[in-house]
Amino acid sequence: MRLGILISGAGSNMMALVEAHAAGRLGGAVPRVVIANRPDAPGLARARAAGVEAVCIDHASFTERARFEQVLVDALRARSVELVALAGFMRVLGPAFLNAFENRVVNIHPALLPSFPGMHAQRQALAHGVKVAGCTVHFVDAGVDTGPIIAQAAVEVRDDDDEATLSQRILAVEHKLYPEAIRAIAEGRVARDGRRVRVSPARPVR
Ligand code: GRF
Repeated sequence: MRLGILISGAGSNMMALVEAHAAGRLGGAVPRVVIANRPDAPGLARARAAGVEAVCIDHASFTERARFEQVLVDALRARSVELVALAGFMRVLGPAFLNAFENRVVNIHPALLPSFPGMHAQRQALAHGVKVAGCTVHFVDAGVDTGPIIAQAAVEVRDDDDEATLSQRILAVEHKLYPEAIRAIAEGRVARDGRRVRVSPARPVR
């Protein structure tokens, strides 16, 4: 299953997927292309250094969102991408993109959804005073971080946490959760029934 990974920044989740693939932990999913919407995204160079094609499609050079999304779709289709993983991709995708990859776009978000969608999720969690934070992998729908949940993992909030320390501990968990979820999809272990998503266990390694 050819994977397209969309980033805007550091790309540490993207690298976690690339490294999981190299280690044989991504099922049949193969990172085929990394696309950034910003030319200065550090993840572009990291992907290339790991041997993955990486291209920039700069959203700022388009006047219409639908046109930007169509160029994204064309780039992914040209590489026969079957599953799209958003990994710190900071643009909301509309129908021009989502209709082209229906049920085949996933995202990772640094909060236990439906709490704290949108920007600065970790800051929102600290401001609210929750004791348990975490991260969520979900299918992408037309809303912001509202799609059906595939996997979640909890991270304890410590009394002395600030946004940086909490974000860092959540990120370390993201780097495990995202490859596991993509692997489950690639292995055909993920079944959707409306909002309920069932993930069957991986077959034990003999
Ligand atoms: C991650 O926390 C991810 O959950 C969020 O944006 C951050 C991206 O980090 N959507 P990176 O670019 O993968 O390092």
